[in-house]
Amino acid sequence: MAASLELAPALQQLTEACAACRRCGLAVERQQVVVSRGNPAARLMLIGEGPGAQEDSTGLPFVGRSGQLLDQLLAAAGIDSNRDAYVANVVKCRPPQNRRPTAAELAACRPWLDRQIALVNPAVILLVGASALEGVLGIRGGITNLRGQWRASEIEILRGRRLMPVLHPSYLMRFNSQAEGSPRALTAADFQEVRRSLLAP
Ligand code: URA
Repeated sequence: MAASLELAPALQQLTEACAACRRCGLAVERQQVVVSRGNPAARLMLIGEGPGAQEDSTGLPFVGRSGQLLDQLLAAAGIDSNRDAYVANVVKCRPPQNRRPTAAELAACRPWLDRQIALVNPAVILLVGASALEGVLGIRGGITNLRGQWRASEIEILRGRRLMPVLHPSYLMRFNSQAEGSPRALTAADFQEVRRSLLAP
């Protein structure tokens, strides 16, 4: 609690600066800039792709259908996304028709994300989906093979942090099966691994 109180003015400043941002074309059609939700003092940071319609209208990340599924799967692993995590996206304005953000949009938004990482200082970062993997680590493609594996990075802001790519909940929504080896079962196992890592000293 103390840490989040100390962080509050810096995060407020960041939110205000983001609200005035016009670094890329996504500013044109947005209703709101979607900066974060959750606990800035958490050791876990979740980074998704970008706001959808509900996020754009509420100003909060991962509150629509895919956010609800994400929350459910995290909760099954004992992780409460508002208490145990700080939640953000690689782009903070809604891409039209929910298309993937372009490389130029990812690059334009990156300084805001780096500032969030610097302030929150998470030990563990979950890269939720292919755009997060691309936007944070510069890796294009391969999320289905890379998911669930811990990664380190020599990018300065990421040094010393443990990063794990996981499947995006909007992808998981295409499959109902929870059978062994299904995307949902794999993600459930990934979240259990994240929980174990958070409990380790
Ligand atoms: N999908 C994302 O990646 N982020 C959100 O905030 C909502 C949906």
